[in-house]
Amino acid sequence: MDTQLKELINKALSMRNMSYTPYSHFNVGAALLAKNGTIYTGCNIENASFTPTNCAERTAFFKAVSEGVKEFSAIAIAGGPAGSDPVDYCPPCGVCRQVMSEFCEDDFKVILVKSETEYKESTLTEVLPFRFGPKDLLD
Ligand code: THU
Repeated sequence: MDTQLKELINKALSMRNMSYTPYSHFNVGAALLAKNGTIYTGCNIENASFTPTNCAERTAFFKAVSEGVKEFSAIAIAGGPAGSDPVDYCPPCGVCRQVMSEFCEDDFKVILVKSETEYKESTLTEVLPFRFGPKDLLD
């Protein structure tokens, strides 16, 4: 397996240890690859008021954008019950797909991770067809 893909997968899996999930006990980790080669990691961060909860994917995006990085090629996502390895693939929620839509091109890779060796790749177009994005407002 490609070393960079392996690193993304391992970082998504290990970031689950950083999740703050006292309510759902569902830990999600993400590793976002910027076009400049930097990997930004994220975990989900919940809140007693529920709505302010931030998903792992958005944590990673917002860390990158807050540091001036806005071009990305792939994200790896791993999620499942706290205290155990993922039991299934964890697809990104609709809000996170929309954040991807803001910064990523059609061929941006979304890599769902179940374990170090079990993963599946899709593109942004596949997970969010007919999407609304910056071009709809700025062109
Ligand atoms: N979650 C993510 O972090 N990413 C997703 O794409 C799906 C859901 C989190 C939010 C919440 O903390 C927990 O998983 C249960 O919904």
